[in-house]
Amino acid sequence: MKVKILVSLGISLAIVIIFFINSCTGSTEKKQKEWIDPLNETVEQRNARMEWWRNARFGLFIHWGVYSVPAGTYNGEQIPGIGEWIMRRAHIPVDEYRAFAREFNPVKYDPGAWVKMAKDAGMKYIVITSKHHDGFALFDSKVTNWDIADASPYGKDLLKPLVKAAKKEGLKIGFYYSQAQDWTHPGGAKSGYEEGEYWDEAHAGDFDEYLNHIAYPQTEEILTNYDIDILWWDTPYWMTKERAEFLRPLIALRPGLITNNRLGGGYSGDTDTPEQHIPATGIEDRDWEVCMTMNHTWGYKSYDDDWKSSEDLVRKLVDIASKGGNFLLNVGPKPDGTIPQASVERLAEIGDWMDVYSEAIYETSASPFRRPWWGRCTKKELENGDTRLYLHVFDWPGDNILRIPVLNDPVQCFSLSDKESVFKNEKSNNSLLIELEGEAPNEICSVIVLDIKGEPQVPDQNIKINDDGVLLLTPEESNLENRGYISSNHAKLVRNNELSYITWKETNTWMEWPVEIDQQKAFDVFAVVATASSGNKLIVEVGEDKNIFMLPETGGLDSFEKIKIGTISLPTGISTLRLKGEKEEWQQCYMSNLELAPVK
Ligand code: GLC
Repeated sequence: MKVKILVSLGISLAIVIIFFINSCTGSTEKKQKEWIDPLNETVEQRNARMEWWRNARFGLFIHWGVYSVPAGTYNGEQIPGIGEWIMRRAHIPVDEYRAFAREFNPVKYDPGAWVKMAKDAGMKYIVITSKHHDGFALFDSKVTNWDIADASPYGKDLLKPLVKAAKKEGLKIGFYYSQAQDWTHPGGAKSGYEEGEYWDEAHAGDFDEYLNHIAYPQTEEILTNYDIDILWWDTPYWMTKERAEFLRPLIALRPGLITNNRLGGGYSGDTDTPEQHIPATGIEDRDWEVCMTMNHTWGYKSYDDDWKSSEDLVRKLVDIASKGGNFLLNVGPKPDGTIPQASVERLAEIGDWMDVYSEAIYETSASPFRRPWWGRCTKKELENGDTRLYLHVFDWPGDNILRIPVLNDPVQCFSLSDKESVFKNEKSNNSLLIELEGEAPNEICSVIVLDIKGEPQVPDQNIKINDDGVLLLTPEESNLENRGYISSNHAKLVRNNELSYITWKETNTWMEWPVEIDQQKAFDVFAVVATASSGNKLIVEVGEDKNIFMLPETGGLDSFEKIKIGTISLPTGISTLRLKGEKEEWQQCYMSNLELAPVK
């Protein structure tokens, strides 16, 4: 591989100097797990670098490019899948795709208004696609003509004014850069293809040459010419360790830069990036950011109208914050530079909620206790060493009582939307009971502030065998993980006084519970379930142990039955019990309680 010797030398020199300074100041050289750092940071330095990002919690993702011109339709045919992948999905030849750029003329582009929209929604940063997999750069790149300045009638850089507007409003800004996949420049990687394979002769070329002549110098351009805070790599197809190590030193060009985990070659960067799903209980020991669309596509698709509701989006933001993560929520602007109205409306509605409640999101950390049935919790350490708990109430309790699983003494408790409205609270049996009054102040999510003395002391929260000798796993207490791309297919909890249940359509959804037993035992597993199919197989996973059970038909989705599905063994101590569906022949079912009764 040819290397840009001069730049690399410069960077190596910088690394040596930084290392030297560190050794002189005697800082402890503790390395983060899996973090191989060209900047040779200490943990303290890294924490300082990540601070604004950890406090921000909420950002705007923007996927914008030439793909917004076909907007999901090619040769009269609606192409399935995400809009920005149309070139790959429909195997559009390079020349034909290039022609779309002539219609990419964002005369209505108003970067100031975009930044204002993000800021009003309560977002603290923006990440925009500087180059997506189609290879088209939204900046004026000197190493190609396949960019906004040379290939579109607009003829000038789109990113400079956005960076400027963001900085002016105090927002941080990042660039997404597709370092490996490039479906236009010769040699670029293509998902589903081996190196050297392609769908158009114009692709012929060597991947290392591509990295050397396009990815490397473009990364250098964006890191040198733009005052950016984040570099968001993506889809590391064909990236080996050696190739990642070729690009990676470039990040030293911009001190303070934050990068994600998608460079490839085993480099985990600063942040994990769960895409289109929220991890059931967050991600331990890592900074993480859920990226998500409001409909099903990142890049604009004219006919994708299946939008998540504002309520859903606010609750997702709260859910993510309660697990200690960030939310990067996407918009896909049109070729004229306007943002779809449905997205604008949703951002405004999220902003209405944030206007009142953002204090319960920014600078907070994960809930000290397991998800309560009524909503979520975030927390903040107060200056005097006490803890502020923000109780995000999705479901206002019918009896007005909120039970908070902490052992601390209460200090004060009030409604965040009306600080005058204070609530009685008292200690009771391993928890604090709050007596709410009246109606929920906010339909989407009301926030109650509870200050407690000192650091949270949380009683053991694992699910144990109850007085009837049964381990009862309820849908309300389950942690749900929905991996599917189509959010309308996601499993949801339906709360019902008689019987709550989870609507379960897809096998990339699962439920999990933390369980604890004194002594290894065999249990009969009973499922309270409703299903119209006799082909479903349930998987009960405990650690490495995987049990597969047939689920007989119950006579339809409105007919719940308690069925014994099989027997499993639980190990002594704490474990996570996960309920999954076997892919083959899976059909929607409604899942209520899972009851584990010791085998007699
Ligand atoms: C994916 C897709 C892409 C999108 C990104 C957002 O990896 O390839 O089109 O940009 O995820 O997370």
